[in-house]
Amino acid sequence: MKIADRIDRIQPSITLEMTAKAAELRDQGIDVINLSVGEPDFDTPDNIKEAAFYAINNGLTKYTAGSGTNDLKSAIIKKFKRDNNLDFNAENIIVSCGGKHSLYNACQALFQKGDEVIIFSPYWVSFPDFVSVTGATPIIVPTIPSRQYEPNFEILENSINDNTKGIIINSPSNPTGGVWGDDAIKRVLEIAKEKNCWIFSDECYEQLTYDEPFTSIQNYDLSNNKILTFQSCSKTYSMTGWRIGYTAGHKDIVKAMSKLQSQSTSCPNSIAQYAATEALSGDQSAIKIMREKFKKRRDFIVNELNLIDGISCESPGGAFYVFPSFEKLIGNKIDSAWDFCFQLLDDCAVASVPGKSFGSDLNIRFSYAISTERIKLAIQRMKDILK
Ligand SMILES: Cc1ncc(COP(=O)(O)O)c(C=O)c1O
Repeated sequence: MKIADRIDRIQPSITLEMTAKAAELRDQGIDVINLSVGEPDFDTPDNIKEAAFYAINNGLTKYTAGSGTNDLKSAIIKKFKRDNNLDFNAENIIVSCGGKHSLYNACQALFQKGDEVIIFSPYWVSFPDFVSVTGATPIIVPTIPSRQYEPNFEILENSINDNTKGIIINSPSNPTGGVWGDDAIKRVLEIAKEKNCWIFSDECYEQLTYDEPFTSIQNYDLSNNKILTFQSCSKTYSMTGWRIGYTAGHKDIVKAMSKLQSQSTSCPNSIAQYAATEALSGDQSAIKIMREKFKKRRDFIVNELNLIDGISCESPGGAFYVFPSFEKLIGNKIDSAWDFCFQLLDDCAVASVPGKSFGSDLNIRFSYAISTERIKLAIQRMKDILK
């Protein structure tokens, strides 16, 4: 059977694979500690669920406008004003089936064969594939772990050329949790402007910063109309399964994305859109509670990992991941971070994700979207196996 070449250009998502493997072991009755998850362990807040019940019970269960309901777009516009001090109109907003879909659509709308797109490593697994599937080439630029994974600017400057069409930024980052400082962001924006290329700012972890308040990248240059901002209800409101994400940016790109969406998924799920409207405009207090819990867990896991001989772990400013390096253990206690990650699952029932899938051979990604007790137990199992 001949499958189209574009499918050969992409890889299956290893994060979802690890989650499936962990679920399989759990089904066999094994007590798996899942540190591979990419979603908060809190329930979707009740007010959001109530809005979904209301939609179901009142017949709001039909197709909506392809790019999202007017109510949800106004809630998004108000949210951008309230949380990010940014002004958008409805023509600048498109709602999609999750932030992933938003990013995919935007890549499809802008990139093609011959284009190059800068992606910073370690990167979220899907970025290179989003770019490759369009026929464009992902150009990987390394970052500096001790500086919250800000770019290596020397390599960035040498990687940009006339074919560079876009730069993808993800701060706070998955998989590192790194949050870039003002200077790094301004410098990347200047470089992008000089080369007239697009900035994609994936801000889906905006509400999860622990040391500094978050600033949306568009704020650094309000006049730059080549910035696209990607947001999602998934992490902020513990709504990963509801599949609502959105993009804000230039109306022509939004129009192009809407055109593509209208011929692929039609509208996002109507019930989830009503729930998302409540999420964005209703009570926001659950976010603060979640953030405080995550901060405590971050401090705990970073400290515990650094106490293990041979592991070194930066303290990331956001998201709910740590990305420790196993470099010092490779060649003596372990063969590679990749092997150790699978050994952790097979021998200790601790699921995590190998750094290689994020472009970094020496690391493993641990999510701390799980209780401190379970993190403690996972660390103990890791210590035992390393002994
Ligand atoms: C960096 C990043 N961007 C986007 C997404 C997509 O999230 P969703 O499609 O659930 O909105 C994720 C999910 O893990 C992510 O980590």
